[in-house]
Amino acid sequence: MKTSRRVPTARRALHILVSAGPTREYLDPVRFISNPSTGRMGYAVAEAALQAGHRVTLVSGPVALTPPAGARVVHVERVREMQAAIHAAFPTCDALIMTAAVGDYQAARPRTSKLHKTGRVLTLRLVRTPDILASLPRRRRQIVIGFAAETDAMHAAAARKLAAKQLDLIVANDVSAPDAGFGHPALRAALLYRDGRVRELGRCSKQALARLLVRETERLCAARATASSGAHHAAQKS
Ligand code: CTP
Repeated sequence: MKTSRRVPTARRALHILVSAGPTREYLDPVRFISNPSTGRMGYAVAEAALQAGHRVTLVSGPVALTPPAGARVVHVERVREMQAAIHAAFPTCDALIMTAAVGDYQAARPRTSKLHKTGRVLTLRLVRTPDILASLPRRRRQIVIGFAAETDAMHAAAARKLAAKQLDLIVANDVSAPDAGFGHPALRAALLYRDGRVRELGRCSKQALARLLVRETERLCAARATASSGAHHAAQKS
């Protein structure tokens, strides 16, 4: 039978870890803080990676999508659950593609029983959630790709996150565009690389961006492997 799976351009099949969708932080058992991420970008990346012959672990927040067949899927809700799942899979992955819209705040004191309304103003105290990318161990081998959801000064903000989170590549994603972003089949994006290169993509479909990211992951992983085997040979000779 003919198969549509393409042979990876990297010498070997990779283990690609993908995060997708939103997170939820509960205020009480029946209410939570979240965001409009649908998970479409991450699921498209998982699908494209499988199509290219790679092994995929998909860590997914709550979404209404069916995971692609063949992916190992870990379902999570809270940021700490997503962090634990990513930390568990990271040591054996070759690349992490972090498309998830991770919530930055959680209730300082989540209630264990339902909060009933009163006539008074309700003030919520929120504290930071952990930054998953920033909390990863030092990466010798892995390629790490992030997404920056921005409404203004997109390139500058994405470049700051690329450096602060020690990423190899970041997708700057204009979520203010009326024809792209959260919930749309397309996004308006640019790729920013660690070496300062910028590749403007304009408006593109999430599927097309997913295929491009998988090819870039293969290229970056192959370049990293060549660089480290060169360093190994140089160390053996000296
Ligand atoms: N991210 C993460 N952990 C968080 C927040 C974000 O790992 N607590 C990741 C996202 O998955 C994304 C990248 O960091 O790949 C950038 O996320 P974004 O929400 O754009 O930026 P933040 O670092 O949260 O900064 P800010 O919300 O202030 O723009």
